[in-house]
Amino acid sequence: MRWQFLAASFLVRDVLSASLPNTPTTNTTEPCGLITSQALEFLNGNLSTSNFFYFDARLGISCLESSTINSDLAVSFIAELSKYVEFQSTLSYLKDPPSDYQYPPVDILGGLSDISTKAAAGGFSGQYAFDQALAQLLTSAHDGHFASRLCTAISVFFARPVDFISLSVDGVQLPLVYTLEDADAMTDNFTVSNIVAINGQNVTAVIESEALFVVSDPDAAYNSMFWSTATAPINGNFTGGLTLPQVNFNLGPYTNLTFANGTHKSYLNQAFIVPNRWSENIVDGESFTNELCVGPAQSTAASGAVPTSSATVTPNPTSAVPSTTASTVPNQPTILGHPETPVVKDLNNAVAGYFLNGTEYNDTAVLFVASFESQGDGNPADFAATFSNATQDFFAAVKAANKTKLVIDLSGNLGGNTLLPNDLFRRLFPTIEPYGGARYRIPTAANIFGQSFGALPQASVDPLSTDNATAAALKLGFEIAPWNYRSSLTTDLKNLTGWSEFFPPNVVNGDNFTVNVRAPTNNTYFDESTDAIVPFRPADQQEDLQPFSVENIVILTDGTCASACTIFAEFMTRQAGVKTILVGGRPRNAPAQAIGGTKGSEVYSLAQLADISQSLLILGLVPDSLLDLANETFPGLVNLPLGSPSDLDSYTLNLRDNIPVGDDSQTPLQFVFEPADCRIFYTADTASQPHKLWEYAADVAWKGKKCAWGGVKTPPVSSSNGTGSGSSGQQQITTNDASRGSNAFPTVMASIVFAIITQVV
Ligand SMILES: *[C@@H]1O[C@H](CO)[C@@H](O)[C@H](O)[C@H]1NC(C)=O
Ligand SMILES: *[C@@H]1O[C@H](CO)[C@@H](O)[C@H](O)[C@H]1NC(C)=O
Ligand SMILES: *[C@@H]1O[C@H](CO)[C@@H](O)[C@H](O)[C@H]1NC(C)=O
Ligand SMILES: *[C@@H]1O[C@H](CO)[C@@H](O)[C@H](O)[C@H]1NC(C)=O
Ligand SMILES: *[C@@H]1O[C@H](CO)[C@@H](O)[C@H](O)[C@H]1NC(C)=O
Ligand SMILES: *[C@@H]1O[C@H](CO)[C@@H](O)[C@H](O)[C@H]1NC(C)=O
Ligand SMILES: *[C@@H]1O[C@H](CO)[C@@H](O)[C@H](O)[C@H]1NC(C)=O
Ligand SMILES: *[C@@H]1O[C@H](CO)[C@@H](O)[C@H](O)[C@H]1NC(C)=O
Ligand SMILES: *[C@@H]1O[C@H](CO)[C@@H](O)[C@H](O)[C@H]1NC(C)=O
Ligand SMILES: *[C@@H]1O[C@H](CO)[C@@H](O)[C@H](O)[C@H]1NC(C)=O
Ligand SMILES: *[C@@H]1O[C@H](CO)[C@@H](O)[C@H](O)[C@H]1NC(C)=O
Ligand SMILES: *[C@@H]1O[C@H](CO)[C@@H](O)[C@H](O)[C@H]1NC(C)=O
Repeated sequence: MRWQFLAASFLVRDVLSASLPNTPTTNTTEPCGLITSQALEFLNGNLSTSNFFYFDARLGISCLESSTINSDLAVSFIAELSKYVEFQSTLSYLKDPPSDYQYPPVDILGGLSDISTKAAAGGFSGQYAFDQALAQLLTSAHDGHFASRLCTAISVFFARPVDFISLSVDGVQLPLVYTLEDADAMTDNFTVSNIVAINGQNVTAVIESEALFVVSDPDAAYNSMFWSTATAPINGNFTGGLTLPQVNFNLGPYTNLTFANGTHKSYLNQAFIVPNRWSENIVDGESFTNELCVGPAQSTAASGAVPTSSATVTPNPTSAVPSTTASTVPNQPTILGHPETPVVKDLNNAVAGYFLNGTEYNDTAVLFVASFESQGDGNPADFAATFSNATQDFFAAVKAANKTKLVIDLSGNLGGNTLLPNDLFRRLFPTIEPYGGARYRIPTAANIFGQSFGALPQASVDPLSTDNATAAALKLGFEIAPWNYRSSLTTDLKNLTGWSEFFPPNVVNGDNFTVNVRAPTNNTYFDESTDAIVPFRPADQQEDLQPFSVENIVILTDGTCASACTIFAEFMTRQAGVKTILVGGRPRNAPAQAIGGTKGSEVYSLAQLADISQSLLILGLVPDSLLDLANETFPGLVNLPLGSPSDLDSYTLNLRDNIPVGDDSQTPLQFVFEPADCRIFYTADTASQPHKLWEYAADVAWKGKKCAWGGVKTPPVSSSNGTGSGSSGQQQITTNDASRGSNAFPTVMASIVFAIITQVV
């Protein structure tokens, strides 16, 4: 058996059979109450566990469908949510996308207004129907940075007790869908049959339609529906979206499979809850809504607590369930799903380097960048340095071993620290300065933010050696606030002179944006405080430091590359000219993107936005003439009226567009179709053993192996061909998912800020 992880993939099924409840002894007929009594019975009265409790999917659906809705709260929820959504950078492009955009247009603000109108008219039968409408709208933005945690979607989850995989016989012929069990039998030379239909519907059509809820491009979304080794380092398991949907929609009671040989198999679908997120008080649909959708927000509002900025925004905010992650296993010798022995691996399991075995590959090294965020349990403060050191050590080992070729595997990489892409790129191409142009959407509230920060005296942001820790943190909060003109540089790396230069405004696609800017990454204070690392920055002309020539590097992805990963990939492809290989995607011989996750360059949580709004008002920094408008438009002056505040920390949006150099149309990269140079499909071998996939990529890149579409024929690209050269400063966007937000000034420090401001004015 080559599927080393098969046992892990069957986890869901095993747990299911063990925990499916027997006949309930309670006499309630309310489905939500039945879930509670069955869970209490099964767990001996103790709901304080985060292990999943499974039951029949039909009970889960009935419970959700019995949820009640408070239409007034629903209407005010949409009104408040819309104030935040104004900051989503891509609204006008979603409404009116360029012709090569792969999804239908969607009017997000208009859609919110329609849902509100319907709710006001009592048009939703319950919270579930309301949340379904909202989820449908928000996921249709297909932006992993634009994430919600709607209460019904994080209360009852659904699963199919079978794993699926999409395999081609040779990597070139179109793939077919199999159960994982059959894929395993296939590698042992048993004859197996592919799936042709799910519940009587064409299998491809079913998968593509469920993939519409996935926040990436259609081919990356298709991949994410299947069992995969690529997602294992981040998720801690191999489960795909067909088995475990990320958005809570009605799977129906059964998953009935029809195989090509005519055989049918029927699986009973499962629902599950995380007991410590549930409550004993849930006895019916009304108490469900009160406990999980309304209650927590009300109680916090009543206590007067103000949401503080979230410490961390995960790069995969759609992950609904707490996972049994790899991070619980300290410093493993290998990365989960990747049993190959690394030459170098960081202790956080984010990056590892390998040498391929066999004489035909003895010149080839592999750098697997699972994530730009820690997946292990090293000290978070050291994460960036540990990552950077690991890549440095690996390139030294590469040199010592005379390896000349490099496969960079970005499969499953959803981003993280955003100076690390800069650091890694610079180690590979010491003479090319990363560009990283970007801009913000500026709705009315953001314009007031910008004017308020613009009016701050310089001394209130300049750090002094005599500042105490609190004062230093506050000044930093000012300094790096996105709407402070001091936190950005012009595209030719000059300081901006004020808000009016930052926001003239720049009207593009009928919408208001800032001018394109770059982050001051040549500023040590900025680098260290935003991302805890000063990126590697060789002196000019150190070409001898370059470990591989450009034609000897190839990037391999499963399409899901998102956020900071796309920043790295864009530097590599657009600035250095490195070629890409996409593995998997929809079964068609057509171009598809290697970089298919969100290409937005900064995620921001609603909690962070609320912090800015509240702080500016509390500190009296909003000019008097704008106060009325501020009170009307600022998001976060009241708590969102539905849902738990701790869940609301996980609501995020894309604040910043990545605008490539030289694009006069200023189209955000999210809306630019960038086909991979080559597409291949997974085979039974390459899907189960990463080193087989790496060898395949090396064969395509350097031995002329065929692609299913396109091909890699790397022309030599002069490494000094990069953009933005001629300036000594090293530049790059900071999209940091993790640390930037933690520096947004918490309102608890308001009085201290006040002291600083009054001191210096
Ligand atoms: C069944 O319901 C009745 C009244 O609704 C209640 O008195 C009784 O205690 C319940 N029995 C159980 C086993 O919960
Ligand atoms: C499967 O068949 C191929 C070709 O006949 C053979 O090379 C391979 O060793 C077989 N694998 C197993 C596990 O029997
Ligand atoms: C048809 O294919 C399925 C899936 O590989 C397999 O489980 C089943 O045994 C096959 N049926 C027959 C009659 O061969
Ligand atoms: C399913 O639909 C796709 C296109 O939508 C088609 O190419 C394929 O042949 C269909 N598969 C089956 C088993 O009918
Ligand atoms: C699925 O199979 C179950 C059990 O065999 C059957 O009751 C149900 O009608 C089937 N559903 C569909 C859509 O085929
Ligand atoms: C697999 O990981 C995902 C993402 O973390 C999580 O949502 C899911 O619950 C996990 N599945 C299992 C079976 O643990
Ligand atoms: C190379 O072979 C060694 C020894 O068998 C093994 O531990 C390692 O995982 C292999 N590396 C790769 C990349 O396949
Ligand atoms: C790879 O193997 C060949 C043949 O054994 C040998 O000539 C060559 O030096 C090796 N290259 C490296 C980098 O080890
Ligand atoms: C990284 O390497 C430098 C230089 O070798 C060393 O001083 C530093 O402690 C290392 N940092 C970590 C977190 O390993
Ligand atoms: C690398 O190449 C150098 C110079 O050709 C040679 O001396 C050295 O032995 C080689 N190292 C390995 C590990 O093959
Ligand atoms: C730009 O602003 C920074 C930070 O305020 C300052 O240190 C630097 O001297 C300024 N550069 C120029 C050219 O004015
Ligand atoms: C830190 O400095 C600020 C401004 O000077 C002052 O208001 C505050 O009391 C100081 N905090 C501490 C803990 O010393």
